[in-house]
Amino acid sequence: MKIAVLYGGVSGERDVSLASGKGVIKALKANNHDVIAIDFNPNNLSEIIELNVDLVFIALHGKHGEDGKIQSLLEMLEIPYVGSGVLASALAMDKSKAKQIFGLNGIPIAKSHVYNLKNKSDLQITEASIKANFKVPFVIKPNSEGSTLGLTIVNDYTQIKEALITAQLSDDYAIVEQFIDGIELTVPVKGEIGQEIALPIIEIIPKNDLYDYESKYTEGGSEHIIPARISEELTKKIQNYAVTAHQSLGCKTYSRADFILTKDNIPYILEVNTLPGMTSTSLFPDAANKIGLTYEEMIEEFVNLSIN
Ligand SMILES: Nc1ncnc2c1ncn2[C@@H]1O[C@H](COP(=O)(O)OP(=O)(O)O)[C@@H](O)[C@H]1O
Ligand SMILES: [Mg+2]
Repeated sequence: MKIAVLYGGVSGERDVSLASGKGVIKALKANNHDVIAIDFNPNNLSEIIELNVDLVFIALHGKHGEDGKIQSLLEMLEIPYVGSGVLASALAMDKSKAKQIFGLNGIPIAKSHVYNLKNKSDLQITEASIKANFKVPFVIKPNSEGSTLGLTIVNDYTQIKEALITAQLSDDYAIVEQFIDGIELTVPVKGEIGQEIALPIIEIIPKNDLYDYESKYTEGGSEHIIPARISEELTKKIQNYAVTAHQSLGCKTYSRADFILTKDNIPYILEVNTLPGMTSTSLFPDAANKIGLTYEEMIEEFVNLSIN
């Protein structure tokens, strides 16, 4: 097949996407596809509009790539692509909206509230409202961002203002969320619509206190334990939550749900990633490996699921 890979892009996660894209390009070539690699730039949409391919593999992360916008363009052009559609992508990118849907579907969610940061002069009002509604510790993060960018754990009310300013650099909206103390779990989901399965749960042990950008992307920045060291019963429950999360947003082909599991075994969902990292050491391919899928086989499965 003739497949275009979109990677790079212009979001805060450009570097990660460059690495994901390289992995995907290599795998597609190894699988004998004819590959066109495109470092995506929204200022050069003609590159996409003029594409003559059988399929587009979106290896972008974050804004313009993971949020439904590029999916929308491809829909208009009637070019098939890998992964979730416009609505599911946009919903998943909006952490707050996605959490409302997860909550309605019985998945535990942490208390949170979204604040509009567009009007900078309102910061003081926002700060007061956060103080009135949240007890420390809590998290302030951009509502639509990834890779832990722009996130602050607030342990003292004096940190709020700076945390809001930090979040504002990535997004016009901040989500304030109660801090959940526990272990970090992530669950890859894949498959045909209605028949998705969860892969083994990954327990993440970051070297830093927080599963931050550095822990995520530097070699040895975190340890992945697969399967997570939790009971079979709890594993099944969390895997079901991950599949429910995927289906409730209407995701397609693959996704990865992030959870924090507390000491009393409540798995709070943080988010669903519709285009999770696809570097050779990323979480999703790592879990796929555990069930005997090579990186190349995993990519080929995504391709096949997308053209059926
Ligand atoms: N409410 C929270 N309680 C505890 N830790 C959190 C919370 N929200 C985020 N984190 C930490 O920050 C990381 C990134 O948050 P997440 O919501 O998954 O956003 P993204 O991965 O899109 O940047 C999580 O993996 C976790 O380590
Ligand atoms: Mg995450």
